[in-house]
Amino acid sequence: MSKKEDNASGSLMEKIVSLCKRRGFMFQSSEIYGGISGFWDYGPLGVELKRNLKEAWWTDMVQGHNDLDTLPGAPSSYSMTGLDSTIIMHPQVWKCSGHYDLFHDMMQTCHGCKKLFRADHVWSIMEESEWVASFKKHAIDFASVNDTITWDAAAVKRWLEKKGKNAAPAMAGVSDVEGVIAKVVAEVAGQGTGTIVASRLFELLANATSTTEEALPCPNCAGRLTEPREFNLMFQTYAGALQTEENKTFLRPETAQGIFVNFKNVLDSSRFRLPLGIAQIGKSFRNEITPRNFTFRSREFEQMEIEFFCHPDQSRDWYMYWRDRRIAWYHSMGIASDRILLREHAEDELAHYSVGTADIEYAFPFLPEGEFGELEGISHRGDFDLRSHMEGKLDEKKRPLEVQLDENGQPKYRGSGRDLTYRDDLTNERYTPHVIEPSAGADRGVLAFLCEAYTEDQAPDEKGNMQTRVLMKFHPRLAPIKVAVFPLVKKDGMPELAKEIYLELKKSYNVFYDEKGAVGRRYRRQDEAGTPYCITVDGQTLEDRTVTIRDRDTLEQVRVLIDEVPAIIRKRIEG
Ligand code: GAP
Repeated sequence: MSKKEDNASGSLMEKIVSLCKRRGFMFQSSEIYGGISGFWDYGPLGVELKRNLKEAWWTDMVQGHNDLDTLPGAPSSYSMTGLDSTIIMHPQVWKCSGHYDLFHDMMQTCHGCKKLFRADHVWSIMEESEWVASFKKHAIDFASVNDTITWDAAAVKRWLEKKGKNAAPAMAGVSDVEGVIAKVVAEVAGQGTGTIVASRLFELLANATSTTEEALPCPNCAGRLTEPREFNLMFQTYAGALQTEENKTFLRPETAQGIFVNFKNVLDSSRFRLPLGIAQIGKSFRNEITPRNFTFRSREFEQMEIEFFCHPDQSRDWYMYWRDRRIAWYHSMGIASDRILLREHAEDELAHYSVGTADIEYAFPFLPEGEFGELEGISHRGDFDLRSHMEGKLDEKKRPLEVQLDENGQPKYRGSGRDLTYRDDLTNERYTPHVIEPSAGADRGVLAFLCEAYTEDQAPDEKGNMQTRVLMKFHPRLAPIKVAVFPLVKKDGMPELAKEIYLELKKSYNVFYDEKGAVGRRYRRQDEAGTPYCITVDGQTLEDRTVTIRDRDTLEQVRVLIDEVPAIIRKRIEG
């Protein structure tokens, strides 16, 4: 079954989630206590996958970067270095960055069950809710809440009086069937079409006849939601024994600000010149109102961010370079080009600081066919951050940017007062660098690579019968286990030889040794874990010191000398 067909049947994501738990990629945090929404733990395979992803990013972007030559597509040569800043920082950082005032989502609360929903998620959560499923099954069926449906008063009345009582207990239509039905009838009759849009029908059913202000129905209980209100996504905490306003701090919602406030430290303590990229991998925290879609929207997650500092005149070219460089990286790590794309933001979508932003988006299987979700953002941030940390928070609405003032005409949030400009020692020019920011999520990356890797094919079992095989086609660099080593049987000196190979390879890679059960079943377990190569010691090994190397994807087996194994494996993994 192709990924597309499987996705359309809605089961691909369920299969991936189930495999993640069964094989130890991911578990819900605190699961034995019922779990905690928006937090995920990585199990034995997951931790290796995530480490490999972060390692590949760091190797390709930072440690392995060639700063002597001009790379293809780059305006010039450039330097890359790293940083590891703290999660809790001076509260002024978040005031000047804009997160204190602007980092919020709109949320709505249910008057009945008190549950909170992100305002722009209400309808999509509702589409997946139990009461809408019941309505579709027992009253009027439709595909999307945006569909126009034929009004059937009798069916809706029956549902409100019977199934709706349990499924949507707080719905106004359940307690006032006649009144609410009359309200819908009047609206449908007024339009004279005999039809109504499903979402509008639900709005009418959720509001009692006496209520003038209409509200959206709650996705959970079908009660009435409040008006959208602002909700800041930063987690608060206190540094010090006293829970006072002065001690109030925040868990960072992005790693980027740690880089901006250390920009001068890095330059002053090294011989780097601009253009320079400073990279950081670390935890970020956002109190997401409706964490959902597995790890896609979590409350604790890891980011892999680069802040790239350059001359303002070259910033457009660097922005284009980093967009292309980053999507090429995902391709090189095995993501097929038709499931990943680069989308340039429209003017009204841009973040407050952004002069231009492009998202790298992936066709996550939990999304409807043809839709893509953000994997990484590449932003042209101009000089917003460095100037805000120098002069005081800039007013994001003003062009050109100016310091935001309070009612007394003073900076609303004062900056550090430190000089964060750069002097080019060759030209003597002094300027405030512009910043290009490729900002990737490690957890979203892991999720995309898990979705991309999940494959079902047909392969013969031990008796030659074709069976459905589940395999995770990870790029060898990402695979949690690189090689599995098996003695065909547990005797005749085979385990001893297999252990020798295992210990040799283990010096460089994560290797798995397995001598239990039929060899066919051992292969299958490794296919599911995504292990690209399995080495088997068999009868022939005892005669000529050769072993077989089996390829996970092609099932091809080649026979090679034991002494050649390390070099062959290195070449296959590292290229
Ligand atoms: N410094 C810019 C910044 O943080 P962002 O678009 O808010 O930009 C960057 O986040 C990346 O971090 C996203 O593309 C995504 O991969 C990841 N990310 C953001 N919020 C997340 C969440 N709640 N759960 C998991 N990953 C998240």
